[in-house]
Amino acid sequence: MSNFCPAYPTPRKSRMPSWKAFFSSRHSWLDLLFEKSYSMQMGQVSLLNSTLFMPNEPTCVHRVLSDNVANYPKHQLLGDALEPLLGESIFTTNGAQWQRQRQMMNPSFAQARIQVAFAHMQQATDAMMTRISRWDFQQSRDIQEEMTLVTADVIFRTIFSTGIDAERAKSIFTAFNEYQALSPRLTVPAVYGLKWLTPFWLRRRSDRAAREIRHSLLAMIEPRFNVRDEVSAQANCNDILESLLHAKDDITGDRFTLEELLNQVAMLFLAGHETSASALSWALHLLAHSPDIQERMHEEVTAIAGMQALQSDQLKSLELTWNVFRETLRLFPPVGFFARSVVDTDKIRDKTLHKGDSVVIAPWLIHRHRQLWATPDAFDPDRFSRPEGRASARDAYLPFSSGPRVCIGAAFAHQEAALILANIVRAYRITPRAGHVPAPVGRLTIRSANGIFVQLSPR
Ligand code: HEM
Repeated sequence: MSNFCPAYPTPRKSRMPSWKAFFSSRHSWLDLLFEKSYSMQMGQVSLLNSTLFMPNEPTCVHRVLSDNVANYPKHQLLGDALEPLLGESIFTTNGAQWQRQRQMMNPSFAQARIQVAFAHMQQATDAMMTRISRWDFQQSRDIQEEMTLVTADVIFRTIFSTGIDAERAKSIFTAFNEYQALSPRLTVPAVYGLKWLTPFWLRRRSDRAAREIRHSLLAMIEPRFNVRDEVSAQANCNDILESLLHAKDDITGDRFTLEELLNQVAMLFLAGHETSASALSWALHLLAHSPDIQERMHEEVTAIAGMQALQSDQLKSLELTWNVFRETLRLFPPVGFFARSVVDTDKIRDKTLHKGDSVVIAPWLIHRHRQLWATPDAFDPDRFSRPEGRASARDAYLPFSSGPRVCIGAAFAHQEAALILANIVRAYRITPRAGHVPAPVGRLTIRSANGIFVQLSPR
């Protein structure tokens, strides 16, 4: 059986003029890409006062993310875009401030902690399976909604030891959708050096959405912050907030202030569920078009766990399930690109990068690069078990970035995804809605503009 090739915006024959690119990228930055973007070693775009470089070639990418990482801090535009929502959180800070935050947060994501998080993941997955069991199985649904809910529930439980209630979930999702939809319209003018073109009412709407989310999260954090030194108050809370409340700066011994805690929790909540929701929704789309892979996954899961609850040590044996998730992240990397700025002159290939220039690393392009992957547009999970696929993965696969700023939640995300996918495929067959073709758009994460409609049928 030939492998399914999911649709994505047809690249243009040639590069768009800058003025046209400006308006297109306000909808989705995927619309900017042209055929050569998928085969070039290193692209270059002149902006008003600087140059933007896009390295795809593995050694160039490695130079930016690892070898000369100090020269390529996170881009200020990212900070500007996310600051109203996440404050000065680990996702956007640089230098000593980032180092302190990373050191204080690493223990929350150590292997032992992820084992503890497994119980919360199981509860959220069980709640998802109960919700799904009440669906009308004659109808197809936009699976993005359920995947957003379950991943928010997972991260909420792992941070706070309690599930997300329907009212809070609704208010956070509505506000975040508003924030996400406005984000390209706020950042694109800044990329072109035209920040003054952003209408003030858009910024006001975006700030209001950010305030609503922060307000909701603060209501969960503050009561525990106020009693953090009372041992009895912590007795039943073996969660991420507990670990952050007591995290200490190695050098000063200081702990996070309430404001810092709110920033980190907001960041974990959003980075932790939006990315996983995007990936899981695309995984179900790809599986819906690949019945043979579903059957093999079903065999794999039932051979290992029967109809019993999956345990964390069993997840590691689900080779095909992991490969499905890996391959989904290759085709639809939730963080489709990440931006860095240039601190000092550097040379990459034949190009000279100057202070103030920008560098964009785009997993979306690198993962579909014509010279770096065989059959780059095809959904082929087994490639990760073949030698040539492993070689491509070693050189040209970075859904979680790489180097010191690699995603802190990668192991967490793999465990969560394997558990959710295995549970769904064990109980249901997934089919696509006839005639529906999801339309990927690049915003904060890669989502579908017209939903991802699939139908589940009990096995
Ligand atoms: C499929 C799921 C996920 C994907 C694809 C993903 C991807 C990424 C990427 C690409 C980065 C680096 C961005 C950059 O360099 O600009 C990143 C950073 C980060 N992610 Fe994830 N992520 C996922 C899930 C999670 C989860 C579940 C958590 C936490 C519970 C998390 C927390 C973070 C944090 C804290 C950072 C910043 C790390 C630092 O700068 O030191 N992510 N993620």
